[in-house]
Amino acid sequence: MRVNHYVMVSCLVFGILVNIYVIIRLNIGVNIFEYLQKIQNLNLVPKCEIDMDNLLNFIDNRHFLELEEKEMRKETAVHEKTIQTMLFAFPGAGLGNKLFEVISLLGIAETLQRSPVINATNPDYVSTLSKNIQPIFPKLVEQFQLKIIPFTAIAHEHTNWGACCKFDNPAKFINRSEQHIMLDGHYFQSYKYFHHMRPKIREWLAPSKLTAVRAEILLPAKHRDDLIICTHVRRGDFQYDGVHQPSDATFTRAATDFLVEFYRTENYKFLQETNGTRYNYTLPTVSPLYTAVLTPTLTPEIDLGFSRLFCDVTLITAPSSTFGWWLSYLSKRKSTTYYRDITESKDGVIGEMREEDFYPPEWVKLKTDQFGRISSF
Ligand SMILES: *[C@@H]1O[C@H](CO)[C@@H](O)[C@H](O)[C@H]1NC(C)=O
Ligand SMILES: *[C@@H]1O[C@H](CO)[C@@H](O)[C@H](O)[C@H]1NC(C)=O
Ligand SMILES: *[C@@H]1O[C@H](CO)[C@@H](O)[C@H](O)[C@H]1NC(C)=O
Ligand SMILES: *[C@@H]1O[C@H](CO)[C@@H](O)[C@H](O)[C@H]1NC(C)=O
Repeated sequence: MRVNHYVMVSCLVFGILVNIYVIIRLNIGVNIFEYLQKIQNLNLVPKCEIDMDNLLNFIDNRHFLELEEKEMRKETAVHEKTIQTMLFAFPGAGLGNKLFEVISLLGIAETLQRSPVINATNPDYVSTLSKNIQPIFPKLVEQFQLKIIPFTAIAHEHTNWGACCKFDNPAKFINRSEQHIMLDGHYFQSYKYFHHMRPKIREWLAPSKLTAVRAEILLPAKHRDDLIICTHVRRGDFQYDGVHQPSDATFTRAATDFLVEFYRTENYKFLQETNGTRYNYTLPTVSPLYTAVLTPTLTPEIDLGFSRLFCDVTLITAPSSTFGWWLSYLSKRKSTTYYRDITESKDGVIGEMREEDFYPPEWVKLKTDQFGRISSF
């Protein structure tokens, strides 16, 4: 249907312009008679649903959404020995980079059985913690000790030095006897630093109730039970910094369509299996396959909350985007993540990345062939 195509493309173009997130809803699992009825009603045209004006007005009237996360008892093992990292990206970088540094510090501290410490006399650290992190993730900030430790009492080591995304195993410091160790290094962008404590990370980074409500109202209620594919689009600074590659429209569109097709087929099979009767659920070709919903860019924590509440599948189209990475890592519990092959996008970060250190092994890499078709590795 031409109109669907047109609306979809405008959604994508708009999304790419303002760095927002495209949500795709699949019309599946609905039986063919409902389809025919809906087609007759002509109500199935995909819409760009951006409720900017009314969005925040609704908030006060909404019921609060309880997250299903269980409250886990915090084991407060306080170690006498301490560990710090340089927090190189802390003052200027975006939330994705900040999260990698603090969460990696926590993971390393647990690996080394030391207390994670942040230098309380460094004004950049303290202001970042209090302005950028504490208001949205108060539990996260409780995991550190803010301390003043004399410079001369600290043993310095280089690790994860000079490259963002190569795991430098901290276990090599496990037998060090010094009371205080500082790991001088940059970015610490590898899930291997902290993957062993993922359930706790999800707890610390759970959205507040207000954030969850704000995220919840971005998706119209009628779509909440659908399969939601979240395509993260990142342009902005990535277009101009000479290192990163922004999302490109061709890949974004093709990869999104690829996933829609994949999950449509998957679900088709699934339906056949659950209901022993053999029904032919092939969708009529005239029906739209999905509805695109755009979420406006409000704040990063609302995007993270959205992903956690709704995203069954995530797609990272700018392969070095750390924010796209966190949106995926924190998405729904049983979600699946796809990402663009970084060698294909010519992203400059590849020189600093070992792919197996940056992307968890269960995430699926997508490549484009010479005809523009997408497939998974
Ligand atoms: C803590 O930060 C202050 C201010 O940047 C710096 O002068 C001091 O050397 C730091 N302490 C340590 C132990 O790194
Ligand atoms: C730490 O010490 C233990 C016990 O002596 C030893 O088995 C282990 O290999 C050491 N690890 C490192 C990284 O030095
Ligand atoms: C399978 O689907 C048919 C048609 O919708 C329905 O009549 C039947 O009850 C279903 N069987 C089961 C086990 O759900
Ligand atoms: C299902 O329907 C489609 C379209 O009518 C048809 O091409 C296909 O062969 C059918 N599949 C089965 C298994 O009946």
